[in-house]
Amino acid sequence: MTSRQTCIDRDAADPLGRARARFSLPEGVIYLDGNSLGALPVAAAAAVRQAVERQWGQDLIASWNTHGWIGLPQRVGGKIARLIGASADEVVAADSVSVNLFKLAAAAVGARPGRPVVLTEAGDFPTDLYILQGLAGMMPDVELRVVEPGGIEAALDERTAVVLLSHVHYRSGAVRDMAGLSAAIRAVGAISLWDLSHSAGVLDVDLNRYGADLAAGCGYKYLNGGPGAPAYLFVAKRHQAALRNPLSGWMGHARPFDFVDDYAPAPGIDRWLCGTPPILSLTALDAALDAFDGVEMAAARAKAGALGDLFIERVEARCAGRGLALASPREAAARGGQVSFRHPHGWAVMQNLIARGVIGDFRSPDVIRFGFAPLYVRHVDVRDAVEILGEILDSESWRDARFQTVAAVT
Ligand SMILES: Cc1ncc(COP(=O)(O)O)c(C=O)c1O
Repeated sequence: MTSRQTCIDRDAADPLGRARARFSLPEGVIYLDGNSLGALPVAAAAAVRQAVERQWGQDLIASWNTHGWIGLPQRVGGKIARLIGASADEVVAADSVSVNLFKLAAAAVGARPGRPVVLTEAGDFPTDLYILQGLAGMMPDVELRVVEPGGIEAALDERTAVVLLSHVHYRSGAVRDMAGLSAAIRAVGAISLWDLSHSAGVLDVDLNRYGADLAAGCGYKYLNGGPGAPAYLFVAKRHQAALRNPLSGWMGHARPFDFVDDYAPAPGIDRWLCGTPPILSLTALDAALDAFDGVEMAAARAKAGALGDLFIERVEARCAGRGLALASPREAAARGGQVSFRHPHGWAVMQNLIARGVIGDFRSPDVIRFGFAPLYVRHVDVRDAVEILGEILDSESWRDARFQTVAAVT
């Protein structure tokens, strides 16, 4: 059984331990929700202050050129590229994940004429399903096929145009076999589209080695870009010339400042931009990504896995018989950065935990999620969090009326 002192010793020997100082974390809080909203990097706060006061406040519109605002989507994309196994010119920061999935899925359908099927799995993140429903609704020739979990390979055929899947499942944290599925999708002539929201910044994602075609992901989870941070998208080099962005806005034009009437897509990744980039949000994400300087993603994944293993071990020892059931893969290799448990009163238990300074989150109907962002969560945090969880479950303090009201955002 792992003692508190063992956890302290592991933290002292942790090669990623120094990265924690790059974050501003409130005293007395154990933050286990970096899979939902990453913590604030110290450098991001400073960079946004400088962008507001100096760049916007003093240098005004000249900053598009003098401070390089116009190239920020590509520069941020280049930093994300290293974390996901892509080349810098295959990634750009833009829009939200939802919008990027729409752009990429529509482009993939356009690139596979005569293939009507857009394929995905039931129970994936709702926005992914909703976006495909919207796409099928506006394109009468497109047929959305939603298969039960595990059913993708059997459903692939010569009618399939594109397959959208999350790399890591938002609820269970289960990792999909990106290499195997991308190969199977390619073998039938279809295009793979991956949602990396729960894997970038915590796993050693390697898009090009895995043969992925397209991808999109969140800037505000493990990348720590702040609430509503811009998302990003990836288009493998081999697809860049053929795929067309259906949202053909001026920022994706080959020469936006020629102001001509006809759209001509920019070569390369730039065509995936649509409108004016959100400079303040991109500034935060740009600085936040520097927290990964010197961090090898394989080491980050190993640490997140070890923290998750420790959490499972401690919960099963300390909270046995208290109504919790593991809802994530037990093997670290099969998990992303989170561990989920089911509890019949999960919402109230999580509210009680938050009131005690342990922040995770809840997914309807009964899942409580705990994220182990490897850059700032320590082994001792995991141990202490489980001790508090144990106290809450032993005393049933979660039954208190103040923990029962469900908030707008869970
Ligand atoms: C897997 C996944 N995809 C997409 C999103 C949200 O994307 P958007 O940037 O459109 O809000 C989330 C948010 O939690 C997510 O978990």
